[in-house]
Amino acid sequence: MDATAQPAIQLAGVSKRYPTGTIAVHELDLTFDAGQTLVLLGPSGCGKSTILRMINRLVEPSAGRILLAGEDVASMDPVALRRRIGYVIQHVGLFPHRTVGENVGTVPRLLGWPRSRVRARTAELLELVQLDPARYAQRYPHQLSGGQRQRVGVARALAADPAVLLMDEPFSAVDPITRDRLQTEFRRLQAEVRKTVVFVTHDIEEAIRLGDQIAVLSDGGVLEQRGSPGELLGQPASEFVADFVGADRGLKRLAITPISDRDLEHPPIVRPTDPLPAARAALARDGARWAVVLDPNGELRGWLSVEHAADGHGTVAGRVRRMTAWVPLDATLKQAFAAMLQHDAGWVAVLDGAHFLGVLTPESLHAAMRRSVESAEPETAGAV
Ligand SMILES: Nc1ncnc2c1ncn2[C@@H]1O[C@H](COP(=O)(O)OP(=O)(O)OP(=O)(O)O)[C@@H](O)[C@H]1O
Ligand SMILES: [Mg+2]
Repeated sequence: MDATAQPAIQLAGVSKRYPTGTIAVHELDLTFDAGQTLVLLGPSGCGKSTILRMINRLVEPSAGRILLAGEDVASMDPVALRRRIGYVIQHVGLFPHRTVGENVGTVPRLLGWPRSRVRARTAELLELVQLDPARYAQRYPHQLSGGQRQRVGVARALAADPAVLLMDEPFSAVDPITRDRLQTEFRRLQAEVRKTVVFVTHDIEEAIRLGDQIAVLSDGGVLEQRGSPGELLGQPASEFVADFVGADRGLKRLAITPISDRDLEHPPIVRPTDPLPAARAALARDGARWAVVLDPNGELRGWLSVEHAADGHGTVAGRVRRMTAWVPLDATLKQAFAAMLQHDAGWVAVLDGAHFLGVLTPESLHAAMRRSVESAEPETAGAV
């Protein structure tokens, strides 16, 4: 079989009924692609943690099979299996009486790595999660902030370089600002390490931000829908999913819709060295209220309004105003909108590196938002 086509993890008809009678997971079929982040999203008690624990055999399924790189986990030694899988436990779960360094080095030590290699790996991982080893390796978990503890948890899970990482609400116990930072860090880290990540959350915003794919579960571990964030927001498969992703999914889509070339407007362009009469003529020709001022190499210098260009015979350079509202081309519509609000600007410039590409105004932004929502709506729901 072609190894690249094989899912990293496959659940086939997996159910879990606890001895108390609770059905936590019901006949679940789910595949996890290598190097991707799949988010398990659903309300409290819908079986998310149970699914993770079945993958690393802390819990045994009542029915069905779980394959790891094509191999049935039921036939593997559970301890050896767990050492191949990184696990970030809900509510962190660091060992309180071990230092940060000892926590991170747990699995490599268990694997019998030489001490020098464990130490080097620990330092490398602490740096990866942006904790200076010289400052933090000797501390104990209670001497860290909540966000720092979460990062140690992630470093520990990555220690033996597992192909699979199970993360159970790893960022739920921290304040919103720290959480935002940890999410940004996770994206950076995942772009670098490219693990197969199973990420559990009940926070839709977090799921959209971090998931390549999202699987929405309802009570009793029933799979409601699996798809990309865009598919989920645009075409919720059931009432349950629509409710769960929320009524403001149009707004949420903004956060994942990139700016497109065709959204951009192209106002008149003037050079700093242009004489003012020429600039006035350019504005008048387009009936524009303002022009963009570019250096000869295409870099954004600022802008010039009709009012500032009025009368006088100097050059544009003396009248140009600085432009603070700009976003890179790979920004989302939400970021463009935020920049416009933050700088109280009538438009935002879109740049590729330092190179000016065009602008978004409230009108073009609105058109882009409509396009983004409609492109994801099913035909019948398209009419507003
Ligand atoms: N060891 C257990 N024995 C009996 N029932 C259990 C056990 N562990 C979990 N359950 C039940 O199974 C269901 C699923 O639990 P699970 O922990 O997987 O949910 P979850 O989706 O992770 O929830 P949360 O978002 O609150 O962490 C719940 O009803 C829970 O009470
Ligand atoms: Mg849980």
